[in-house]
Amino acid sequence: MINKSKKAILDNLIKQIEYHNNLYYNNDNPEISDAEYDNLILKYKKIINENPDLKTLNDPLNKIGGTASELFSKFSHPSRMLSLDNAMSIEDVRNFEKKIINFLGKDNKSIEYVAEPKIDGLSVNLIYLKGSLITAATRGNGITGEVITSNVLTIRDIPQKLKTKKPPNNIEIRGEIFMNKSDFIKLNKKSDNQFSNPRNAAAGSLRQLDSTITASRPLRFIAHGFGENNNENYTSYEKKMNDFKLWGIPISPYLKKFDNINDLNGYHEKIDNERSSLPYDIDGMVYKIDNLQFQKRLGFVGKAPRWAIAHKFAAETAITNINKIDVQVGRTGSITPVARLSPINIGGVLVSNATLHNFEEIEKKDIREGDKVLIERAGDVIPHVIKVIETKSKKRSSAPKPPKLCPVCDSKIIIDPDEVVVRCSGTFKCDAQIVGRIKHFVSRSALDIEGLGEKQINLFYNEKLVRKYSDIFRLADKKQQICDLEGWGELSFNNLITAIQAKKKIELSKLLYALGIRFIGDKNSRMIASAFKSTKDFDAFLKSNKNIQSEIDISLKNTDGLGPKAVLSFNEYFGVNKNREEVQNLFEQCEIFIEEKELIDSEISGKKIIFTGTLTSMSRAEAKNVAERLGAKVVSSINKSTDILVSGEKSGSKLNKAKELGVTVLNESDWKKISKL
Ligand code: IVH
Repeated sequence: MINKSKKAILDNLIKQIEYHNNLYYNNDNPEISDAEYDNLILKYKKIINENPDLKTLNDPLNKIGGTASELFSKFSHPSRMLSLDNAMSIEDVRNFEKKIINFLGKDNKSIEYVAEPKIDGLSVNLIYLKGSLITAATRGNGITGEVITSNVLTIRDIPQKLKTKKPPNNIEIRGEIFMNKSDFIKLNKKSDNQFSNPRNAAAGSLRQLDSTITASRPLRFIAHGFGENNNENYTSYEKKMNDFKLWGIPISPYLKKFDNINDLNGYHEKIDNERSSLPYDIDGMVYKIDNLQFQKRLGFVGKAPRWAIAHKFAAETAITNINKIDVQVGRTGSITPVARLSPINIGGVLVSNATLHNFEEIEKKDIREGDKVLIERAGDVIPHVIKVIETKSKKRSSAPKPPKLCPVCDSKIIIDPDEVVVRCSGTFKCDAQIVGRIKHFVSRSALDIEGLGEKQINLFYNEKLVRKYSDIFRLADKKQQICDLEGWGELSFNNLITAIQAKKKIELSKLLYALGIRFIGDKNSRMIASAFKSTKDFDAFLKSNKNIQSEIDISLKNTDGLGPKAVLSFNEYFGVNKNREEVQNLFEQCEIFIEEKELIDSEISGKKIIFTGTLTSMSRAEAKNVAERLGAKVVSSINKSTDILVSGEKSGSKLNKAKELGVTVLNESDWKKISKL
């Protein structure tokens, strides 16, 4: 009886939701506010939660998208999703322009830039086929992401159908999914989930196996680009983005075009001043070359395009009190003094702790408990104390000193005379170090396992579910134990396991970085990984007694930058059997790979090529880039092993030498034919 009336209410709700969906998505003419619409969804959800048997295929939240079964399956982006290099100053921006001018050679006179705020959210790729959204996927590693279609289709900013009579046959629309600051605060107030910032809240809301949960979260979307498409004739980024707007895709209201760096900088300052009143978190401005032909020619280096850069804002600051100074033991054993603060909102995020870096720093800045201090927060970086604003009283205690024993494991503290940092010596014994290493392993800059943060790692460590990295990949076998924990259930367990499964394919460089070896950061880990030809070679290295010097010395000699400290630290790490074994475990449980450069098979693949003289159609930098993309190796001196010399205007001795040695000589028009491949 009850169910019958509930069923009638539900049917009525479904009708209403579908009616408003149609007005919103197809007619762009909503009759009710977002809040009223959300209310309908909430009512619908409440009835379904209380009467799960009433859920049918006619679910208005699932009907508009793909099915839940394809959620989080792998998706190969039709064209690569790039990330951005950062500029921290106007000088960096000028350098960015210099490189572009150099690259484009004589075509550089009319460079126009588009500026947009850099939104701190999650990148998504939307695939529209004949105007209908067929797939939405996360960025992943830029080559492969995960399907999140049914969740994305619950976001009202994202149209199911493009509002145009003549949609492109297929198009990849890229943009940011994010949460407004005010919505984040509301969500944290009403839900059990305490997200640390709007970005985490957006990520957590998107990574749900149940799309109705995503539907109930106030997610927003703004487009900031598109994939490669050779079959259309747009010439300007701005024009294409304006068409997106006409089709119902939100674009940034701050998108603006400029023709010089000074004006870009002025706009940067203006938006920086307005930043705190913007509804969402932004951490800089993105500058992009407007001319799409130029974009194509400039291409990308590593994972970032040459034609765009993120000009970051300075960090945000606020003033608060230090209630207490504690010490914390980090993943490398570093003993760091930490200020416990009166909680303060800095740029939309509640901050309760700030690092004091080391004991010397405390003395230098003359910081004590009870002081009023200036705190800085920048993105994901741990907030820190900049300076004392006001001291508590004239009579102050002496500055805190480093402990003699580790406060967590009682091991001896080592004071390295070359370093300001003091360390706990209990590498394998200290809970704080082990937990810290595991947290780093899964963190955003390393494996980036969504939903496995500080809280969960602490819990799993205490429950002895995770004691080393490889245990994470065995959590799928611990269903009962996890579901029995407070706050856990079947759904949250499934969400976690799906998130872990999604990160099982790991680039070798990422794995090396995630291990948290001292001095092996992002750059060094990439350098070491690239010195191994294949993961098999690395596996063999693990099983051998070799050290990095004997193994990869020759390759590393050709790259600059891997210093002696990094080599020593790497060797020390892999000199410990326990470490080697654990990395072998990871090799067994995960799919470790080395990213191969996308090389095009061409008539110069594998050939050694040298350029001499001046080319009129492109700069030397562009020629080098094209040759490398076509699989050739560009060399700077000529000898018998050189295969091809490309001779531009005013070629000198190299041309003569090539003729002497019998090296194939191409002129510029031959080169143009090859480079157009
Ligand atoms: S352009 C060139 N524009 O920032 C391709 N990205 O740090 C890169 N982002 O992965 C994207 N706002 O998720 C671009 N206006 C904007 C952006 C933006 C936020 C994100 C995006 C990207 C990341 C790179």
